[in-house]
Amino acid sequence: MEKTTCPKAKPIDSSKLGFGNIFTDHMFIMNYDEGQGWHDARIVPYGPLSLDPAAMCLHYGQEVFEGMKAYRTPEGKVVLFRPEKNMARLNLSNDRLCIPKIDEAFGVEAVKKLVDLEQDWIPSGEGTALYIRPFIISVDPHVGVHPAHHLLFIIILSPVGAYYPEGINPVKIYVERQYVRAVRGGMGFTKTAGNYAASLKAQDEAEKQGYTQVLWLDGVERKYIEEVGTMNIFFKINGEIVTPALQGSILGGITRMSCIELLRSWGYTVSERQLALSEVEEAAHNGTLEEAFGTGTAAVISPVGELKIDDEKITINHNQIGPVAQKLYDTLTGIQNGRIPDPYGWVVPVK
Ligand code: COI
Repeated sequence: MEKTTCPKAKPIDSSKLGFGNIFTDHMFIMNYDEGQGWHDARIVPYGPLSLDPAAMCLHYGQEVFEGMKAYRTPEGKVVLFRPEKNMARLNLSNDRLCIPKIDEAFGVEAVKKLVDLEQDWIPSGEGTALYIRPFIISVDPHVGVHPAHHLLFIIILSPVGAYYPEGINPVKIYVERQYVRAVRGGMGFTKTAGNYAASLKAQDEAEKQGYTQVLWLDGVERKYIEEVGTMNIFFKINGEIVTPALQGSILGGITRMSCIELLRSWGYTVSERQLALSEVEEAAHNGTLEEAFGTGTAAVISPVGELKIDDEKITINHNQIGPVAQKLYDTLTGIQNGRIPDPYGWVVPVK
């Protein structure tokens, strides 16, 4: 391990962190070279990478990433939330992007070592955490389209507040009709840069109209609900909690999975199924659309207060956070921050 000789000043006011603006003093890095496998794992001072301008990730987007968080409990312990699930998903993305798999247990260990070293960067304050961004890039200097033979696995850390400026207050979502994010058979289920690049145009247009995010429809019929820009989506319709099934074009969120498990343990009926936009519209019109909320590592639980569908604006639950979203938020963040017991074994200490 190489420690920095010039540590940065840590942010003083955690309420002003925003999301993804500040990075800690160190990063983890490991190389892959064909014939050698993954090797040379090390922690070094955080800083710029030196890449060949022909590095393949810069041209063809052979890249994958993860998003996870570290928290400090009231007893001062530093914990992660289901880190093994992130490493398993990273390998799922790796497989689709022709990136050599990593040893998942080693990946979790790498996260633990780096977070342990940087634990003084974990912010305190409601809704804050240390965001962890593992990612893999292809670095062969080669302007031809082939799977890379040389890659870097890097982990960086960022003290964060809420992803959306609204925090836990309801967000306004724009239903995207023109652009699509992914189709089955594509890469929609992976965490790769291209999925997010595909989302920028619609996101930009939604923001210009005063909406926080877009709700994607399926890429074939443009009829079924998929996911929101940075989160999975749930609707409560006439007592049933519905979220789109994982069929290859949407991300299998770890927060999504945890919310489904929590909701079922509380006795709710949760259906992972095809959900037509028209069903949500109809429910809104006949008064059975009770709640809508998004889930994600960055977004946590984010109630949806307004949906813009073509020229119609649908207000959900009087633009207030609903009881299900509130209970999920309190329980999930309570478990993650160690404020309430974790009967599921989801929380893992870094040491
Ligand atoms: C996360 O929720 O961790 C994500 O990766 C979403 C991101 C694009 C901020």
